[in-house]
Amino acid sequence: MLGKDYISNLLSQMTLKEKAAEMTQLWGENPDGTLMGILRGFHQNEHLSANAGSLLGFCGAQRVLEAQRLHMEESAHHIPLLFMTDVIHGYKTIFPSVLGLGAAWDPSLIEESASVAAAEASVSGVHVTFSPMADLVRDARWGRVIESTGEDPYLNSLCSAAFTRGYQGDGIGKPLHIASCVKHFIGYGAVEGGRDYDSAQIGDYQLFNDYLPPFLAAVEAGCELLMPGFNTLNGVPCTASRRLLQEILKDFMHFQGVVISDCTAVCELVPHGICEDQAQAAALSIGAGVDVEMVSSSFYDHLEKLIETGAVSMAQVDGAVERILTLKDKMGLFENPYKDASPQKEQELHLCGKHRQLARKAAAQSLVLLQNQNQALPLQNNERIALIGPYADSRKLLDIWGLVNGKEEDCVTLYEAFGEHAACAQGCRLWNLRNLEEERPSDADLIAQALELADKSDKIVLAIGEHPDMSAEAGSRTDLELPANQIALLKALHDTQKPIVTVVFTGRPLVLTEIARYSSAVVIAWFPGTEGGRGIADVLTGRCAPTGRLPMSFPRATGQAPIYYNHLPTGRPNTTNSYQPFANGYIGIEPGPLYPFGFGLTYTEFSYSEVTLSCRSVTCTAPSEQKLLTASTVVTNTGSRTGEETVQLYIQDVAGTYSRPVRMLKGFQKITLGPGESRTVAFSISPRMLEYYIPQKGISLEEGTFRIYIGPHAESTQYQEFLVKGGY
Ligand code: GLC
Repeated sequence: MLGKDYISNLLSQMTLKEKAAEMTQLWGENPDGTLMGILRGFHQNEHLSANAGSLLGFCGAQRVLEAQRLHMEESAHHIPLLFMTDVIHGYKTIFPSVLGLGAAWDPSLIEESASVAAAEASVSGVHVTFSPMADLVRDARWGRVIESTGEDPYLNSLCSAAFTRGYQGDGIGKPLHIASCVKHFIGYGAVEGGRDYDSAQIGDYQLFNDYLPPFLAAVEAGCELLMPGFNTLNGVPCTASRRLLQEILKDFMHFQGVVISDCTAVCELVPHGICEDQAQAAALSIGAGVDVEMVSSSFYDHLEKLIETGAVSMAQVDGAVERILTLKDKMGLFENPYKDASPQKEQELHLCGKHRQLARKAAAQSLVLLQNQNQALPLQNNERIALIGPYADSRKLLDIWGLVNGKEEDCVTLYEAFGEHAACAQGCRLWNLRNLEEERPSDADLIAQALELADKSDKIVLAIGEHPDMSAEAGSRTDLELPANQIALLKALHDTQKPIVTVVFTGRPLVLTEIARYSSAVVIAWFPGTEGGRGIADVLTGRCAPTGRLPMSFPRATGQAPIYYNHLPTGRPNTTNSYQPFANGYIGIEPGPLYPFGFGLTYTEFSYSEVTLSCRSVTCTAPSEQKLLTASTVVTNTGSRTGEETVQLYIQDVAGTYSRPVRMLKGFQKITLGPGESRTVAFSISPRMLEYYIPQKGISLEEGTFRIYIGPHAESTQYQEFLVKGGY
């Protein structure tokens, strides 16, 4: 690092136009592959192309080496480019979709996967990734739910901090580490109706207690950049919100890194209806605290005028440029503009055995077993398996973000992973909602072929699910069902009376009521990544047991969305398991989800003793991490196989100034027990686990009764109460 003096001196030599260029990120390349930012393919502006601060989505060691060399020659002050791209769950070795990684309930796995992704990306010249996505998501209709780790602030906080640590390691200037950009600040996951790019209305009570913690965790883990969301929050686009980007992000969260807009989000302030032209859009964004404009050039085109009229101050511009140059200096780019880019290292690291092995382990750990009647799983060696469905032998195991740099051709299919065990048919085609002009495939002949295969088998593994294009950005859906042709195939196979293990590939929680009715076993595979076929086969064959737990509630019907476990009790809670008139819920449907947050089975069973507390009353008058009491339970493996259980701790604040959630996840422990083995699992309860943010007051702990639940998921019923006296 060359330090502050070097940066200040460089800043003092730059013209306003050069500063505006430094605040601009260009597309990395034209759709036809010609280099856009440097070779003047874009913006038709030599000066901007020669002096842009960063490129989006441009990577590959050889290309980056060439582009950086050109840029260093042509830019006025030889300031190196930053190369930024979306490394969301892997670079070349692709891990399960983020929602699947959340289902592993394993921050160390996330950190390790991010570290692998950083190594593979950095040798391809990547300096910054737009990850973690820390959005809390409760509405499965929103396509980008796939990029989140789900509905819980505590789990999401652990995961977003783990991603940041994995990417940045012990310093972004160190080899094989990249800078982390946490996104989309804030409330993007709460868009109305789950419609992408829409409006979100979130009061401070929910904003600070539910949506902010995962971002705060990433900031506290040291993430270097942050990206505002496309959405409006309470009527103001995040990109133009001083309250968000100054008062909350910098004053309350003490973030000191670079704020980069989302793709064309600065331009979009005009259609958002808060300004009339791009000049005003630039002024509002910079005034709010945006340092880098992604892909559009409002800053570059209008800054001179905005400074002249006083709409933007030179101090604001210098502050933004200083943060950008400081980031480059922290990465060591002024001493070595090429950092880790190395064609030879790409050959060594990309998709290497060690990385594939971790991706395989992650795929297995992300699987969630939702049903296993008559021990349909694990599959037995002597069973003849009919592997049927559009995913039986498909390489479409990557979601949209996995495909940014990953390749389907590198994926191992389920059929390949099963090897000689199984025969395979493609009963029913995979239909993609996005290609609406595509005829819904006529499947009669395929189903007939599948039935023939089923007839010669002992057991059916049915691999079905959403098309990868039916989730992620701009992938919002009005219905959470699987395609009708897949349900038809399942019902036809059910008539054969053969046990059916249904493996569901999905980017979101789905309505699985019919899938459960016609299947013996149901497994959620998400989009499992490069080694997805092997990871799934490892679990189905019992080489490893399923350990995943749902990071989101799975609804009984689309109309329940948004549905989540940590909801407020309401004045008319329905505590039964059937529809109750004049109680919270819907006509004719059981309350609550089909499968709750935290739910997941394995190949054995566990029992829980009553919850025990070390005391029933505590006094606490100041914030601290100190233990107030211990809560424990005895977990016993009552089955015949060794198994891993994720013991979950939930806390309910029974009465507060604000109505508090029916329960909140505050801890979990993974334990492995042999058949018949028991173990006491204890949790230390600290004030931090009991406090919450009260608008206009701040973080508080209020005296009164609290309940502690310890169990296998968010609908566990065992709890004990204790009293808190004092408070703060
Ligand atoms: C996209 C996404 C954002 C991504 C960015 C760069 O529109 O909203 O998550 O990081 O553009 O690709």
